[in-house]
Order: sequence, then C-alpha cells, then structure tokens
Amino acid sequence: MLKLTVTNKNIKAVPKKYVRLIVTEKDRNDHRLVETKDGVLEYRLGVGRWNQVTPRHFITLVRTIVGAAKAHHIEHLAIQLQNSPFPKLKERGDDWVVRTLAENLLLAGYEFNTYKTSKKKKTELKEILICGGLSKSEQKAFNEGKVVGTYTNHARDIANTPGDDMTPAELAAAAKKLARGTKVSVKVLDEKAIKKEGLHALWAVGKGANDMPRFIVMEYWGLGKPTKSSKDKKKQPTILVGKGITYDTGGLNIKPSGAMHDMHLDMSGGASVIASIVCAAKLGLKKNIVALVPAAENAVSDRAMRAGDIIKSHSGKTIEVLHTDAEGRLVLADGLSYAQKYDPKVVLDVATLTGAALVALGQQASAIMTTDQKLQDILVAIGEESGDYVWPLPLWDEYKAPLKNTRADVANIQPNFSRFGGTIEGAAFLSFFAPKCPWAHIDIAPRMESIPSDKLTKGSTGEPVRLLVRFLEQS
Ligand code: BES
Ligand code: MN
Ligand code: ZN
Repeated sequence: MLKLTVTNKNIKAVPKKYVRLIVTEKDRNDHRLVETKDGVLEYRLGVGRWNQVTPRHFITLVRTIVGAAKAHHIEHLAIQLQNSPFPKLKERGDDWVVRTLAENLLLAGYEFNTYKTSKKKKTELKEILICGGLSKSEQKAFNEGKVVGTYTNHARDIANTPGDDMTPAELAAAAKKLARGTKVSVKVLDEKAIKKEGLHALWAVGKGANDMPRFIVMEYWGLGKPTKSSKDKKKQPTILVGKGITYDTGGLNIKPSGAMHDMHLDMSGGASVIASIVCAAKLGLKKNIVALVPAAENAVSDRAMRAGDIIKSHSGKTIEVLHTDAEGRLVLADGLSYAQKYDPKVVLDVATLTGAALVALGQQASAIMTTDQKLQDILVAIGEESGDYVWPLPLWDEYKAPLKNTRADVANIQPNFSRFGGTIEGAAFLSFFAPKCPWAHIDIAPRMESIPSDKLTKGSTGEPVRLLVRFLEQS
C-alpha cells in the first residue's frame, strides 16, 4: 500500500533515500532519472509549458508521476507541487491542488493483485513524501483527499472482483465490512424479505441465479435521524441508489461473446455508492445520507425471467419485460421507489446502464440526465472539479411516450426495439419511478473501465466516488 507522508523540509533537503521529482518545461514525453554530483537521484519529468497545464492536465500529471515511479522501481519519492508552478491552477486554489494531489496519487498507486499468484517480489512504490509543508487548510484538504482516494480504491476492489466471488450476498457482506467501525448502519434484505417488501422487479432479475438477490440498505445520520412527526427539512436525507448487478449475462436475451466477460463490473454503481456513504461517515460529514443497492445476478436459467413477462414493481406499476438485458433499470425502479419512504431531499442513481452511453460520449465522461436544471449544473461543475466528468443528455417528456405503448403500464425498452437514444431511453424508463424531489440519473457505463489515457491500472475506475462525496459535502 502506497503511503503518503508530509514534511516541512524543502525537497532539496530530504534524505538521499528519496528520489526527488523535478518537473521541467520539456516535452511531456521527456523524462529521465538522473544522478546529480552529490549522489542524489532526480527524476526529471517534462510536463510541457507550465502555463499550459490545466486542472484537467494536472489530474493526469499526478497519476503519471506515480506510473513513472513504478516503472523506474522507485520505492521512495519526494515531490513538491503545492504553490505549484502552474498558473492555470490558481483559479482552483491551493486546497484543490493538494486534495487533487492526494486523491490521484492514491488512485494511480492502486493495483488489483488479488488473483495474482506469482511470488516474484515486485519492487513497489512504498512512499511519496510531500515536501515544503502544508498550511492548516491544505493539510485538511490533503487528508480529505487521502480518505476519498482510499474509498474510491475500495469501490474498485469490490467492482473488480469476479462475479463468482462477489455474489449479491458477498456484495452485502463487503458493504458491512467496509462500514464496520463507522456510523453507517447496514441492513440486508434477503430473497424472502425482498418478496415480502414487494421488490418484485429486483426479484425478477435475480431469481434465475443460484446466488439469490439482496437489497442493501445503508444509513448514515450525521445530522440525527429525522422523526416522523417533525417536518425538519434539514434532516431529509440525500439518497444514493446504485445498480448492483454482480454479473450480467443479459439473461435469456443473452449477450454475445466478447460483450460479456467484463460484466462483473456491472456492480460498479453499487460499489461506488457503498464506498461513498462510508467515506462520508469517515469524513464526519454533518449530513443525512442513505445508500440503496439492489443487488442481483442476471443469469440464464430455466428460472430466469422471460422476455414478455410482466412484473408488478415495488411502486405498484406493472412493467413488461421486452428485453431481459435491460435489467439494470428494473432493479433501479425498485430502488428508486423504495427511496420514497425516506422523504428524501434529493436522489441520485448511479448505474452502468447502457452501452449506448459509450456511443454518445466515448469513454471520457458519464452521462447525466435530470429535469432539474440546478441539480444538473451542480453535478456538471462538481464533475469538472473532481475529475469524475459527467455530461448532460436531455430528458424531455417526449422520450417517455413510446415506453407506454405496452400491455403493462410501462415497457423496459421501446416496443419497436429501436436502439436510438438508448441512454435516454433508460433514464426515461426510470423517470416513471423517480421520486417527487429533485432526482438525477448518472449512467456511468462509459467510465466503468479505465482507458490508457486515464493513467490508472486496468479495470474499475471507482467512479464516481469523488463526485458523489463532493456532492454530499456540498448538498
Ligand atoms: N450492463 C449493461 C450496459 C453496459 C454495456 C455497460 C456495456 C457497460 C458496457 C446493461 O444491463 C445492458 O445490457 N444494457 C443494454 C440495454 C438494451 C438491451 C436496451 C445495452 O446497453 O445493450
Ligand atoms: Mn444488461
Ligand atoms: Zn447490466
């Protein structure tokens, strides 16, 4: 595990065991390890013209530093980037710089080696020493960044675990384990309780699998629990609903080969809300927060839901299942409906919902859909600030109409099987079950897996934990 430490010493004065990172204005691919006359190792990293380094560049630059240190088998690295030489970061402020530094050093330090059996000891990066000292508020921001980075990595650990080992019950156990010792309570509904509660859409998706579905309820009352009688608006919780499909075969509408093997990552939304609520508790936020994770495996079996089945969802609305691979929206429908019980202030749902989101946005940003302009603006702004980029798609009423053309109240896809606007179709379906309060749907399918330009290890990105935690801090 990578340790981040801080010293008041200037980088020029640290012991020789540290390799000193020096950023230069040379080209971005110009980097070298140099031994100076005094026998000190310097890692000189070109970052291009300093006045060209934007906040976005800075995030990947921080990660590049870790990658380079790993590539050169550096164990102890010293850096000094606060009061940075990059003028374009000034608008974000010094606290942003150090928080971003802490978060992204940890994100880039993360590796998923659980299933590697090789005993060959890799020289691993043990420590990064932040030189030059931190002001009081920087120290606070730095510590927050460390907590957020750590919990984002916990979300990655959960999501990266194969479906055979991270079943719905295991996901619930992982939530309990993560919440242990914090003020987050965890309640888990098993298959019996799921049916009793009327979460039939979740049941329909999960019933085909050997490993039965679970409904995970996590509560954090940082402001004290609201009482039934008091209409204390301040105590209304913010609710996060995360899609927890531990493996998505597509169901009877089975996925083609090549499109299935990474579908253990279909629990990424669930993993991110679990990590975010525990992270909020760790940060001691004075907020009320609830995280709901409908967890199920979308399996192929003779007990699996059929295309053409009609489900009575938790909300009471009936759903015609026209496509068994549009399962995420089914479990979320019940999650969103269940959220109403809490009289929430605002609800966000997070889901790897549609491949179409990758068609729309590429793998650079998640899609956000809401009819609340203010909420949209806040989330886009926090996305930009955190590095968990989100970008809006429209959610006009017109998109809802085709879904009503069904034998039930609503169909889970457009009855003509149109693939146009697939991401909005998902959001439009969810809007039938959305709470009366402000609500936003975040389709994180584009950010489910890292891409080379992220400078992160392969697999889960842990998004959007950084976004959710900042949102919780601010809302
Ligand atoms: N989990 C998938 C969406 C997905 C696909 C996420 C690829 C990340 C990468 C979801 O359950 C799904 O299968 N969606 C279908 C919807 C369709 C049947 C309307 C899709 O995207 O094809
Ligand atoms: Mn699916
Ligand atoms: Zn899915």
